[in-house]
Amino acid sequence: MSLVDNPLRDPKDRRLPRIAGPCSLILFGVTGDLAKKKLVPAIYDLANRGLLPPGFALVGFARHDFGTAKFANMIKQAAKDGARTPWSETVWKQLAAGIRFVPGEFDDDEAWEQLGKTMAELDEQQGTGGNHAFYLSIPPGLFPVVVSQIKKHGLAESSEGWRRVVIEKPFGHDLKSAEELNRIVGEVFPRRSVFRIDHYLGKETVQNILAFRFANGMFEPIWNNHYVDHVQITMAEDIGIGSRAGYYDGIGAARDVIQNHLLQLMALIAMEEPVSFNASSLRIEKQKILANARPPARMDLHTARAQYVGGWAGGEQVLGYKEEQGIPQSSMTETYAAMRIDVLTRRWAGTPFYLRAGKRLGRRVTEVAVVFKRAPHQPFNKNDIEELGQNALVMRIQPDEGVTLRFGAKVPGTTMEIRDVNMDFAYGGAFVESSPEAYERLILDVLLGDPPLFPQHEEVELSWKILDPVIAHWDKQKDIDTYSSGTWGPESADKMLARDGRTWRRP
Ligand code: BG6
Repeated sequence: MSLVDNPLRDPKDRRLPRIAGPCSLILFGVTGDLAKKKLVPAIYDLANRGLLPPGFALVGFARHDFGTAKFANMIKQAAKDGARTPWSETVWKQLAAGIRFVPGEFDDDEAWEQLGKTMAELDEQQGTGGNHAFYLSIPPGLFPVVVSQIKKHGLAESSEGWRRVVIEKPFGHDLKSAEELNRIVGEVFPRRSVFRIDHYLGKETVQNILAFRFANGMFEPIWNNHYVDHVQITMAEDIGIGSRAGYYDGIGAARDVIQNHLLQLMALIAMEEPVSFNASSLRIEKQKILANARPPARMDLHTARAQYVGGWAGGEQVLGYKEEQGIPQSSMTETYAAMRIDVLTRRWAGTPFYLRAGKRLGRRVTEVAVVFKRAPHQPFNKNDIEELGQNALVMRIQPDEGVTLRFGAKVPGTTMEIRDVNMDFAYGGAFVESSPEAYERLILDVLLGDPPLFPQHEEVELSWKILDPVIAHWDKQKDIDTYSSGTWGPESADKMLARDGRTWRRP
């Protein structure tokens, strides 16, 4: 008998998988890319891993004219296409029993009445116990109408169970709109019921930053401006914008991923040890970093942005950004952004963080490289240390998840020649367990009401405070740099680092 099946199990046993209690997930934006590619497969994988309750229900609400059967077929296909775990008809049958679809426009009161009825029926038929999470995988412009309809139809609270709302990014497009969004959501749901998704925080390798820093004794003493020269945080994608022109144009790389994923990574790397790993302790420490992080004083010297032009990527000839479907010729949206951020704390002042993100770059890789200062004295011949770089600790967020330590070693032979070598930890080699997808962890945490991995609105607003001046500076420019697809970004980004006597890593 497995631990999960054992009715006598001790619920405090930490080895037990965390299993969601009875509940439903009501998905808005169910025909969108995110729902099909990530959310639905994650729900299936959770069910397959036995982490959803038997009566779990999934409700779709959209303006499509589907019946529940057609909707269930769409879900089945998306789950089959995207699931990480093997397909099981038994699991699917159980999941399918809880699937419902409510057709309608978001401002159509009748459709909302129908949703209310469906939720009540699920409580009876599937035993969802009044526990329902509303997942808003929709453009932010639609949040106000959906949230106010939830309130108007009395669905935001229940005397029997819990109600939660899950918000996908972008959380606004600047500080002002983020505050407004927060006000709208805050009028309907209490703070503890609002879950903002930053899917990077659901990645195993991102959570490992905390384990790496705070479970080990040997790194923390050198984790500061006495030893660290600078930190590079890179999120490179080889894909272009694909069919996402409508979302991406006018948003750009900085708003799309720096405001959230990269600044969250920076906060985890820079923060002090939290008193515990609960949500509020983590938030306090991350907030301190974001509140003390400064955009560059000289935006012209320490930021770069650019758009990809056609070229070769992954052995294929690809279009430039302005040739992609739906992108206007006049677009000034950046597909690459880089900037220097200074964290003004005793630990980090003088050690810059360089953030860069882009589409259509040389290869898909997200990593954090902590680059150390050189040894104060090198008792070697200059020629012997020509190929010795700076020591670096590289956390590979994805792919090839792991950690690499780069240091100098003597080249075998009769001279004292020293060259950089890598010492490597790879998840694949060390663990037999495979990493769950970020969305599996995050959806499960929503259903369990477990908030540590969800940014609070203070973090979101502080991140906009860092980014707003950079974007305002870019908005004043009359043109935008370019870079060829398949390369590592624009020359201006290389110059930006060269000004500080540094170079970007080639991951
Ligand atoms: C999303 C961005 O947040 O992250 C996308 O909106 C990007 O533009 C995606 O492609 C990348 O996610 P991942 O998990 O593949 O690194």
